Amino acid sequence: FITLTTSLVLVMAATVVVWTTDLLKIAIDKNIGIRNNTLAYDVWVKPPIYPLIGIYVFNYTNTEEYLAGIDEKLKVKEVGPFVYRETTEKVNVVFNDNGTVTYQQKSTFDFVPELSGGHLPRQTRITVPNLPLLSAMSVMKDMYILTQLAFLAVAKTLETRQFVHLTAHDFFWGYDDPLFSLARTYASFTHELPYKRFGLFAQRNGVRKDRITIYTGVDNKDKFGIVSRWNGADRMHYWNGEECNRIDGTDGSFFPPHLVNRESRLYIYHHDMCRRLPLEYKEEVISTGGIPALRYQLPRDIFANPDVNPENACFCHPDIQTCPPSGVFNASPCSYGAPLMMSLAHFYLGDPVLLETVEGLKPDPERHESYTDMHPEIGVPLDGKSRMQVNMMIRKSNTLSQLASLRDGSILPIAWFDVGLDDFPDEVMTIIYHVTFTRHRVQIAMQYGFLSLSAILLFFFVRRLRNRSTSSVSPI
Ligand SMILES: *[C@@H]1O[C@H](CO)[C@@H](O)[C@H](O)[C@H]1NC(C)=O
Ligand SMILES: *[C@@H]1O[C@H](CO)[C@@H](O)[C@H](O)[C@H]1NC(C)=O
Ligand SMILES: *[C@@H]1O[C@H](CO)[C@@H](O)[C@H](O)[C@H]1NC(C)=O
Repeated sequence: FITLTTSLVLVMAATVVVWTTDLLKIAIDKNIGIRNNTLAYDVWVKPPIYPLIGIYVFNYTNTEEYLAGIDEKLKVKEVGPFVYRETTEKVNVVFNDNGTVTYQQKSTFDFVPELSGGHLPRQTRITVPNLPLLSAMSVMKDMYILTQLAFLAVAKTLETRQFVHLTAHDFFWGYDDPLFSLARTYASFTHELPYKRFGLFAQRNGVRKDRITIYTGVDNKDKFGIVSRWNGADRMHYWNGEECNRIDGTDGSFFPPHLVNRESRLYIYHHDMCRRLPLEYKEEVISTGGIPALRYQLPRDIFANPDVNPENACFCHPDIQTCPPSGVFNASPCSYGAPLMMSLAHFYLGDPVLLETVEGLKPDPERHESYTDMHPEIGVPLDGKSRMQVNMMIRKSNTLSQLASLRDGSILPIAWFDVGLDDFPDEVMTIIYHVTFTRHRVQIAMQYGFLSLSAILLFFFVRRLRNRSTSSVSPI
């Protein structure tokens, strides 16, 4: 009888435990964190998941007619995709004693012809705005007249055209530009340019110079993977307010798992824009491999004018006074003064005025929307698309005549990036599958198993009690 009672108590306690706690959550919680010499560390240092970057470049097809005054508007034609597989690695990893780890990011890019639909970057010739010239003109606009004239004297000796003809490969990975070389040595450029040749992607290839410090999540699971310092600084200094200068987001490859729910906003720190990008829960979806996931999206007013989205007021540069039109984010403060404007692909959700500068853009939610499908328990994206466009604003000074035919303040589209994830390797998919389904089934099996066991034991226990009471009564 004593054995029966103790088993009953134990089994009932176990039943309560398996019904009230999430064993999977506990198991995941125990394994959160970047520690040296663990599997999680190896996965973090050399992720077995590869981003695929599809580049669509805007080819300017009527520049001669436009410059000759025959055509009134510039025309562009999207050329692409040129798809590259990015392999990332963390190098110079150092663990700090305050629960953070510092590293640099190393990336290599391999062209994937089978996903590029016949586009070959070395054979494709394109006509694009002369970005070093546009950048130099913009920087010069804010300089003294004398500096401008000195620059003009030098620039005149160089052959500078408003549009350049290049192969797509050179445009992405770097070409020798006389003005860019000049700018590198020219005293008026106060910042040191970190790369030797000009190219849209040149600075992404190889080991980046930024030292990034993130929380390991070992002591503080809420901060797992969140950026703590960027080159030693705990915030940016480009923007006009605390909130805009914050860097506390992850790099987007994983998030603290318990923040992944329907209520919270997730933040990615996007260093090319020197800002955080918020992600908001939208809906439940069935993702890669039939796994249920939570779909997150950028808020629709992410790049809206401060009149529409007051949160954006601090991104407007106090020197320039005006904000760009809705749908465009002015990243020039963090791009060495180059008038770089980021937007969604094809100015999706942007001010219609943006589509009027050049002919040939056509926003389409199906092709141009960004989203991330997150695994709710492990906090990693299973699928997603990030679709951002790079544009240049024309900023010209009256002293310099190089951009005569382009309208001041107009925004020229350059290229957009369709970033997704390559198929997961089978080992990774198996783990995700088990975490999602098998462990869940084990828990359910345990819940009902213990429940039945409790019921059986309870039945015997009650019967024993009855027998005892009848047997103790009968002798009297
Ligand atoms: C890009 O436009 C130029 C005209 O400016 C044209 O000669 C060239 O063939 C176009 N390239 C592609 C890939 O369509
Ligand atoms: C990780 O541990 C190994 C020894 O097991 C050591 O050599 C290495 O320096 C450590 N790495 C870091 C980043 O602390
Ligand atoms: C943690 O320590 C590192 C190295 O000493 C330091 O650079 C960083 O600022 C510290 N971070 C925090 C959040 O205290």
